[in-house]
Amino acid sequence: MRTPFVVGNWKLNKTIAEALAHVTEIKNQLGAVKGVQVGVAPPATAIYAVGKRLEDSAIAVCAQDAYWEPNGAWTGELSPQILQDAGASWIIVGHSERRQHFNETNETVGKKARAVIGCAIGAIVCVGETLAERDAGRTLGVIDAQLAGALEGVTNTELLVIAYEPVWAIGTGRTATPAQAQEVHAHIRTQLAGRYGAETSQKVRIQYGGSVKPSNAAELMSQPDIDGALVGGASLEAADFIAIVKAARPS
Ligand code: PGA
Repeated sequence: MRTPFVVGNWKLNKTIAEALAHVTEIKNQLGAVKGVQVGVAPPATAIYAVGKRLEDSAIAVCAQDAYWEPNGAWTGELSPQILQDAGASWIIVGHSERRQHFNETNETVGKKARAVIGCAIGAIVCVGETLAERDAGRTLGVIDAQLAGALEGVTNTELLVIAYEPVWAIGTGRTATPAQAQEVHAHIRTQLAGRYGAETSQKVRIQYGGSVKPSNAAELMSQPDIDGALVGGASLEAADFIAIVKAARPS
């Protein structure tokens, strides 16, 4: 009942020319894939060009972050409105690299999620524990605190996607096992049910992210509460990304 959503997060990679070549290959090869929603998140400098290239395609252009103010004296920042103007229809917020290196907190992630959804743009809200937190048995408590901060004041769940990304699995080649991921995804859905009601919680997509590759994608996404993937490294190779999208097709 939930359409899987697979998004490639290119992070700080690809010039405009490289982004166009990459997305053209993805578009040409995924044109016929049905039953999966696909998105690409290029660096902000390439959003406009990639969006133009995807005008006649169902592939969504996503941004990797946004500030919560619409405009004003905020040197260097980009707002949801300005990213939407460039062509973004989804925005990732609270990625662990932003939390780790750019001091984002559960509170600021919440401000961003509210600003994005308030502009009628989809928000992909990232949550996930560090290795130390997992080893200390704190995984679910950390996720709960992240969800509480990020979802404060968020009411339009149609524009909400959660991405569970264990920090220890991002860029490390170490993937959560399907059972480990499913346990947290099921917990997230229970939290969503507490906040929005059981029926609504069944409609919210929860992506898995962290070293997703063609060899593990199908098993991860076959778990009952895993509704797609947020793919970093493997999304930089068209063949790998395409294989992951195909692995998300409902059988
Ligand atoms: P990875 O990154 O696939 O390279 O582990 C995932 C992410 O950061 O979204």
